[in-house]
Amino acid sequence: MALMVASTKTATTLRRGRVALKSLSELDGAAWRRVHAHFRDPEIAHLNGTPPSRMPLWLLRRVLKADSRRRDRETFGIFDVSGGAESYIGTIELYDIRHDAATLGIIIGERSHWSRGFGSEAVAALLEHAFTDLGLERVTLSTFGDNERAQAAFKKVGFYEKRRFLTPRGRVDVQMELTRWAWLEQTARETSEHLA
Ligand SMILES: CC(C)(COP(=O)(O)OP(=O)(O)OC[C@H]1O[C@@H](n2cnc3c(N)ncnc32)[C@H](O)[C@@H]1OP(=O)(O)O)[C@@H](O)C(=O)NCCC(=O)NCCS
Repeated sequence: MALMVASTKTATTLRRGRVALKSLSELDGAAWRRVHAHFRDPEIAHLNGTPPSRMPLWLLRRVLKADSRRRDRETFGIFDVSGGAESYIGTIELYDIRHDAATLGIIIGERSHWSRGFGSEAVAALLEHAFTDLGLERVTLSTFGDNERAQAAFKKVGFYEKRRFLTPRGRVDVQMELTRWAWLEQTARETSEHLA
């Protein structure tokens, strides 16, 4: 499926299927309140391997916006655009963008949107941006061994497991990777299946 990119110096929107990825500068007050709720959520924090945020909304917003302006980071709000109206459902980013590689992170904070394909669509949209607009050669990520839903979503878009190891806190860290070459092969395969 084609990805449409609309970009200015400060704002970028990537659209693919049922999702739109928008720069954080595009988020309105309602979306920021959901960001705050997602970052405070203990279950999501556990899945993410971070403590729940205790920052007030104004500070979280300031910190995330400042981070998103870094040259080594591309952060987007994920919007469900399937119902006509756009609703904010989570956040996705590439961070540690160095030379030809970056790390991907994603949080779909709205439970109503888990296991319905929104996560893999958002990742697919960001990968197209990473491998075409940004010219990256490799995208990596890490997730926890017990987060089967995340691993399944990442595998659907072509990520493969590189290694897994036990963290000092006793959790299994699963490292996954996708190269531009493998992504191009998969994209070509999907296009020819679509045309067949
Ligand atoms: C991880 C996350 C991004 C995945 O996005 P998603 O939209 O829920 O995932 P998708 O629907 O695209 O794919 C998930 C797949 O896993 C499957 N799945 C769900 N629960 C599962 C489980 N317990 N075991 C195995 N597979 C599972 C789903 O059925 C789906 O497969 P299918 O499309 O073949 O049916 C999203 O759930 C999320 O952000 N969760 C909360 C925070 C989080 O875990 N972040 C990731 C940290 S690395």
